[in-house]
Amino acid sequence: MTASTNIETAGRSDWFTHDRFGLFIHWGLYTLGARHEWLKSREFMSTEQYDKYFRRFDPDLYDPELWAQAAADAGMNYFVVTTKHHEGFCLWDSELTEYKATRTPAGRDLLRPMVDAFRARNMKTGLYYSLLDWHHPDYTVDVKHPLRYNSEYVALDRERQFQRYVDYMFGQTRELLTNYGQIDLLFLDFSIAAEEGFPGKGKNEWQSEKFVQMVRGLQPNILMNDRLEVQGDITTPEQYMPKEWVKVDGRPVVWEACHTFSGSWGYYRDEESWKSVDMLVKMLIESVSKGGNLLLNIGPTGRGEIDERALDRLKGIGAWMRRHSRSIYGCTAAPEGIESPDDCRFTYNPVTNRLYLHVLSWPFKTIHLKGLAGKIEYAQLLNDASEIRMKQGARQSTMTAGAFSEGRDAGTVSLSIPVKKPDVAVPVIELFLKPGLF
Ligand code: GLC
Repeated sequence: MTASTNIETAGRSDWFTHDRFGLFIHWGLYTLGARHEWLKSREFMSTEQYDKYFRRFDPDLYDPELWAQAAADAGMNYFVVTTKHHEGFCLWDSELTEYKATRTPAGRDLLRPMVDAFRARNMKTGLYYSLLDWHHPDYTVDVKHPLRYNSEYVALDRERQFQRYVDYMFGQTRELLTNYGQIDLLFLDFSIAAEEGFPGKGKNEWQSEKFVQMVRGLQPNILMNDRLEVQGDITTPEQYMPKEWVKVDGRPVVWEACHTFSGSWGYYRDEESWKSVDMLVKMLIESVSKGGNLLLNIGPTGRGEIDERALDRLKGIGAWMRRHSRSIYGCTAAPEGIESPDDCRFTYNPVTNRLYLHVLSWPFKTIHLKGLAGKIEYAQLLNDASEIRMKQGARQSTMTAGAFSEGRDAGTVSLSIPVKKPDVAVPVIELFLKPGLF
């Protein structure tokens, strides 16, 4: 038993810890600014100034079938889309606001065809909903608000009725969880600490407990993240790689790292810090080797397309996944006590009892696995199912008169690997373990 099969969550997490790899989508009005999804706040813009994007939002090339296909081809099993980001703009036809896609030149509900397209490819549905809202008139000013330094706007906080915003947030979530079929995951973003003299917003302000109750009442199996400041089902470290299985209060949790391709979440035309396919594949492996998931983000353009740089990465990941998804799906951290060799990461499938050795940097001819002598039945490269021959224990070579054991001891297995690295982003060696060991 590994921790991933032990962790209890209020929602249904078995599909989640099996599927491991999902697509995050950030798409909204900020896409037209093309310089970060926080631009309204970073540039202290008023809603009137920001309105130029609302009036021109016209994704004429939007085809969610292409998005869903690109994600499926990359090996992704679920998606999470920003139904509303901090700017407050809604991709769906909410009855509670006019600040929505149907009122822009787009003129339609953009969420529904997306949900349909991903579901048609057997992907699970996740919705992101921003707790912050820089458009709603009753949303009070905090340290993240675009008009935090506008004293007139701040002064009006006295007249704002935050409860009206909370009702709106509850009402919109109710719409999303009622009108779009089964929703598997809800990603809420985020609670704000008090800072610079502004009060924070957390579980009391969001009325998180009541909120969670409503959500679970509408979608009993749904998984929720924990940014509401109350216990959620999943923890979502963002833009960093946890150094071990993520723990909350000392206990391992179900977790998912979310990452961008280039630094920002929304489409950013001029950003140059794009990660390579190799790095992204390694990040996926790294997450699963620590018992977690990876949610990788795209920021489609204002025309409604996934831009070439993102498509290129998705294709590269897909090429690797086609041959290696067996070391990702249904896998988790290696059983306790199995020590990974230098420059390698293990994942383990407890159902098939196979261990996967991911070789991040290809060494010369031999990989030594400590403590696994007598425990492996068979080994092969995953990309082409070619046998990897093994030497077990401390038997010494007779090549020279002296002892020559390649540094092995009785408990070590040595894998004889080809001199040439297989032509894949990260080669994987599949180890079939003897039954009943773990
Ligand atoms: C952050 C950012 C945001 C992004 C999110 C993704 O909280 O505010 O722009 O949507 O992380 O996890």
